[in-house]
Amino acid sequence: MAQNSDGAQVSQETLGRPGPPCAMVIFGAGGDLTKRKLFPALYNLAKGKLLPQEFAIVGVSREQFSSDEFRQRTSQEIRQYLTGDVEQDSWDQFVKRLYYIPGDFKDPELYKKLGETLGQVEKEQNTHGNCLFYLATSPTFFPIVVKLLGAAKLTEEQNGKWKRVVIEKPFGHDLESAVSLNHEIGQVLREDQIYRIDHYLGKETVQNILAFRFANGIFEPVWNRRYVDHVQVTVAEELGVEMRGDYYENAGALRDMVPNHIFQLITLTAMEPPISFEAQAVHDEQTKILRAIQPLNPERVLDHAVRGQYAEGEMDGKRVPGYRSEANVNPASSTETFVALALNIDNWRWAGVPFYLRTGKRLATRSTEIVIRFRRPPFVLFRKTSVEKIAPNELVINIQPNEGISLSFEAKIPGPMVRLGAVNMDFQYSDYFGSRPSTGYETLLYDCMMGDPTLFQRADMVEASWTIVQPILDLWKALPPRDFPNYPAGSWGPEQSLELLRREGREWHDSTKKLTSLKEAAEGMSVLGTKA
Ligand code: BG6
Repeated sequence: MAQNSDGAQVSQETLGRPGPPCAMVIFGAGGDLTKRKLFPALYNLAKGKLLPQEFAIVGVSREQFSSDEFRQRTSQEIRQYLTGDVEQDSWDQFVKRLYYIPGDFKDPELYKKLGETLGQVEKEQNTHGNCLFYLATSPTFFPIVVKLLGAAKLTEEQNGKWKRVVIEKPFGHDLESAVSLNHEIGQVLREDQIYRIDHYLGKETVQNILAFRFANGIFEPVWNRRYVDHVQVTVAEELGVEMRGDYYENAGALRDMVPNHIFQLITLTAMEPPISFEAQAVHDEQTKILRAIQPLNPERVLDHAVRGQYAEGEMDGKRVPGYRSEANVNPASSTETFVALALNIDNWRWAGVPFYLRTGKRLATRSTEIVIRFRRPPFVLFRKTSVEKIAPNELVINIQPNEGISLSFEAKIPGPMVRLGAVNMDFQYSDYFGSRPSTGYETLLYDCMMGDPTLFQRADMVEASWTIVQPILDLWKALPPRDFPNYPAGSWGPEQSLELLRREGREWHDSTKKLTSLKEAAEGMSVLGTKA
């Protein structure tokens, strides 16, 4: 028996077999991502017996400390970031496999030292010469590290030993830089050695979109323009920019969230059924959707793309500062912290069905969801009743934080008169599967070790995504915003975002609104009924 990330005992068969022997080199081992996500995920994998016995981690970063100090530091930090418990025995085993090398990523000497350390690690931990290089660094280092790894011959695959490189987001900051990054790393690595990570694909609920759509007979027949009125994708965050002002000032909400996380959600929602879970089959279908999305021309950017920046406001009864007062942010910044877009997927399944997407920081609540709103039925039957309108059916796929799926439909409110109310059919992950979400990185790290790139982005997908976003970046650059900040922290973003749907007779799904109590309505109704 092994343990899953919640500490529950599960059979090894359910969990899967351990990855092959290998060493994992983390560039940026002193950084936030490593302590918040990578170490907790690796430890969860170890607890679940999904890490091989012959495994080692080599941390690389600028800070000067020894392997022993690195082990001590990691042992302290893990307690802060792991959602479950740290068990002393399994942690002691884990921590023995940690090594550390300080150095400058731009210095070829570092790579010489790394080669020597990997040789030593191979002898001590029997890692068989397989190696996963994880670039958890600032993006400026991506091409440099790959080039120097290549120059030191560390990415050469010989005698069946594999070498893979995981690249964090952001992959480029526009179309041109993404193409050039693909080209530069392509000089050193084959495409099947490159794992472009998007942590949204590690989320169980995101992977479940495919199971939900294609393992059920009842949804797919109505999953098209004949039945669907429009689709909404919302990735709302309560947090502000926190300590990431430096990065965010140059990124903004559009680059930070849209060509990666949101487009992943859109492609999985909109794609045709792939013929298998093989990476190529899935990526081909995702790419077709990205290519079918119509890039917005400048006129359309003006009225189909909304940007916003948060002003100070109130959240949970506390005042919070505006974006321009955050650390490392220009007090006159024109960086957007909110974006909403209306896009069209111009193919046979979706032509004419708008895909509205929005994301932002300091919004009313934390919620990532996909809403499929179906067409309204004809009204004729209800003309002579007190029903004024019929609410359209809505399928909500809740990615986080309350993982689940719900379908709303109209029901008759009990009573002598014909009145309708929307009711919900609800599925909550926690009711059935009970497990708390993991970091999301477990699946992705495991897949890299197993050599399965299905949940990673292929070069052409990244470029197709930037192709859609580029006209918006261009126009926004040419026309700096004049109304920033334009939404208070704690709201649903700028007024123009509401207007984007309102002018087409639609509205955003509001996850903070509970369905009105139909019981009360029914009670009110029977009183009315008696009176009538
Ligand atoms: C990251 C962005 O990729 O995703 C952050 O850089 C954002 O700005 C984060 O906060 C959101 O991820 P999650 O998993 O919290 O939804």
